[in-house]
Amino acid sequence: MIPSVLPTYNRAPLHFVKGEGAWLTEADGRRFLDLGSGIAVNALGHAHPALVKALTDQAQNLWHVSNLYHIPQQQALADKLVEHTFADTVFFTNSGTEACELAVKMARKYFYDKGQPERVEILTFDGSFHGRSSAGIAAAGSEKMVKGFGPLLPGFVHLTFGDLDGVTNAITEKTAAILIEPVQGEGGIRPVPDVELKALRQICDDHGLLLILDEVQCGMGRTGRLFAHEWAGITPDIMMVAKGIGGGFPLGAVLATEEAASGMTAGTHGSTYGGNPLGCAVGCAVMDHIADPTFLAEVNRKAALLRQRLEGLVAAHPDVFEEVRGSGLMLGLKCKAPNLDVVKAGYDNLVITVPAADNVIRLLPPLTLTEDDIAEAFTRLDAAASQVEAV
Ligand SMILES: Cc1ncc(COP(=O)(O)O)c(C=O)c1O
Repeated sequence: MIPSVLPTYNRAPLHFVKGEGAWLTEADGRRFLDLGSGIAVNALGHAHPALVKALTDQAQNLWHVSNLYHIPQQQALADKLVEHTFADTVFFTNSGTEACELAVKMARKYFYDKGQPERVEILTFDGSFHGRSSAGIAAAGSEKMVKGFGPLLPGFVHLTFGDLDGVTNAITEKTAAILIEPVQGEGGIRPVPDVELKALRQICDDHGLLLILDEVQCGMGRTGRLFAHEWAGITPDIMMVAKGIGGGFPLGAVLATEEAASGMTAGTHGSTYGGNPLGCAVGCAVMDHIADPTFLAEVNRKAALLRQRLEGLVAAHPDVFEEVRGSGLMLGLKCKAPNLDVVKAGYDNLVITVPAADNVIRLLPPLTLTEDDIAEAFTRLDAAASQVEAV
């Protein structure tokens, strides 16, 4: 008999009932160190007092109004995002994949309005992940995601990750945009080197294309800058954001330049919940913390400490791990042992990590991780690795 919850997930036998900082409590009382943050969502950890206050204060006043009316919390969050990024304008969604939908629509509408309606194609890369909506799966294009779900949304050209010549060769009079994650998350924590991001920006400029960055996983302070592309000194035309921006409340956004957003006039897009007062009140509190340079400096300091410990872990367990990769607190351990075995051994040793493609386990801890948490992370991952070795 089919379970009452549609069985689309392979769930671990864990039932968390409470969270605090980087710690999760299981229904049976065990305390787990959370190095996954709900897959890069709980950027400020669990139950951060400022977020609890923002949510509960807002909940006592107004939960929801339609986007038929002005929403002050939405305006405030958009202003903060515009102030701290390349963007001139923001549309709020509830998730990353909805941000993908709009990014694609926005790019196509831009060229349509410029009198180039044939420019509909978007270049994407293998190993990418842009969510599970029709545009998201068509953009990623992997067999695992698209099989059985045809006909797919047309207009995506899938290229080899890291092959810049392939990008140039793929550009035709139909090309509208390049869509890329500055650091692939689901694909196995694969950062795009700064020189490559710069080159992609240049290719877009040379060919009049839009650069769309998917910072759903790598954005919001995760790599130690507010957004990951800042390390490369470039800016996109359109950017997808979600996960960390709501700190655990469902919230996403598309940020864009005035030029790239020029086609999105009244009536061209909308959302019932996107930009709702609850989500945006929380988003404002998240931004107030993460956009603070002192906070980001701390992320970088802790990232260096964690990375150092992980390098030691890899050296101590050469049969289990191959290398540390990633940027800031978006780290991956490329495994030699099956990554799912390592994640499972982590559960046994009360530490949460997240599997990814390419036999990697992801460490996406709360950005508020403490030095004690880092020491605990090492101890627990070390025990997990020893358990894998013993089998
Ligand atoms: C890079 C990236 N883009 C898009 C998405 C989709 O986001 P959501 O699950 O909120 O729809 C994800 C989710 O993991 C992601 O990592």
